[in-house]
Amino acid sequence: MDIQGKTVLLTGASGGIGQALARVLAAAGARLILSGRKHEPLNGIRQELPGEGHLAIAVDLSDERDRQQLITLAKDQNVEVLINNAGINQLSMHADMSPAEIASMIDINLTVPMILCSQLIPILLQRQAAMIINVGSIMGSIGMAGSASYCASKFGLRGFTESLRRELADSTVRVVYFAPRMTSTAINDDKMVAMNSALGTAMDQPAEVAQQLMSVIASHRRREHYIGWPEKLFVRLNSVLPGVVDRALRKQLPTVLSHATHH
Ligand SMILES: NC(=O)c1ccc[n+]([C@@H]2O[C@H](COP(=O)([O-])OP(=O)(O)OC[C@H]3O[C@@H](n4cnc5c(N)ncnc54)[C@H](OP(=O)(O)O)[C@@H]3O)[C@@H](O)[C@H]2O)c1
Repeated sequence: MDIQGKTVLLTGASGGIGQALARVLAAAGARLILSGRKHEPLNGIRQELPGEGHLAIAVDLSDERDRQQLITLAKDQNVEVLINNAGINQLSMHADMSPAEIASMIDINLTVPMILCSQLIPILLQRQAAMIINVGSIMGSIGMAGSASYCASKFGLRGFTESLRRELADSTVRVVYFAPRMTSTAINDDKMVAMNSALGTAMDQPAEVAQQLMSVIASHRRREHYIGWPEKLFVRLNSVLPGVVDRALRKQLPTVLSHATHH
């Protein structure tokens, strides 16, 4: 898709990946509707973007009324590209997760993108060319200790995206699943960063992730995109030989336990 002149709704625009995405999208000539929870930082980001006509809206996506406000704005603005990027994560053994924490992970990472899609598909179908991009994760294909709820939400998002792509196959709405690997942003708290460094996990910069998403948007065929070649391989391996991945991850378990367990 040629993003020049397109109206893009970007959730999680105040986050690490979101800000980087906003910058490259605006530089490529897109008009952005930026959403996050706090008005001040969002407005600051909006003012620094190249181009004109960008909007910022502070909404808590877990709140139905707030969500409706965002949907109404996106409809009024004739949105053409929906990027479901807002997300939350928490390193924790599953038995330490409260019911509210589990529900919130599924809500923000899975239910909200599903609702935004259902509400905006009628508008997207009216456009000559439209796109839905759901930001998943490598952890949407490989279950990891210490991240069970997050993995569940992203596995769900991947399945949802695949279904929707098939449902809209005869339409002008292109549906893409985009899966970053570990990226240096605030979603990873100190415990997660310490664990990743102990495990030697590669860490991308948000600007690199944003560039990769731009190349996916520009291409016409990409349905799914996973960042990092060892991760791509691991995703394949996990689907055909999960026992091999079980054994590899079993070796990491003591390190995960030492960082994820509440002391
Ligand atoms: N960073 C990684 O390692 C990594 C790896 C793979 C996939 N991802 C995915 O990439 C996406 C972006 O993550 P990030 O790394 O940029 O994280 P981040 O810096 O923590 O940003 C998260 C964004 O989501 C927004 N958000 C969270 N809860 C919300 C709510 N209830 N209502 C509205 N907005 C809410 C945040 O808004 P506020 O500013 O108001 O908090 C923020 O803009 C997520 O879907 C994440 O799962 C990240």
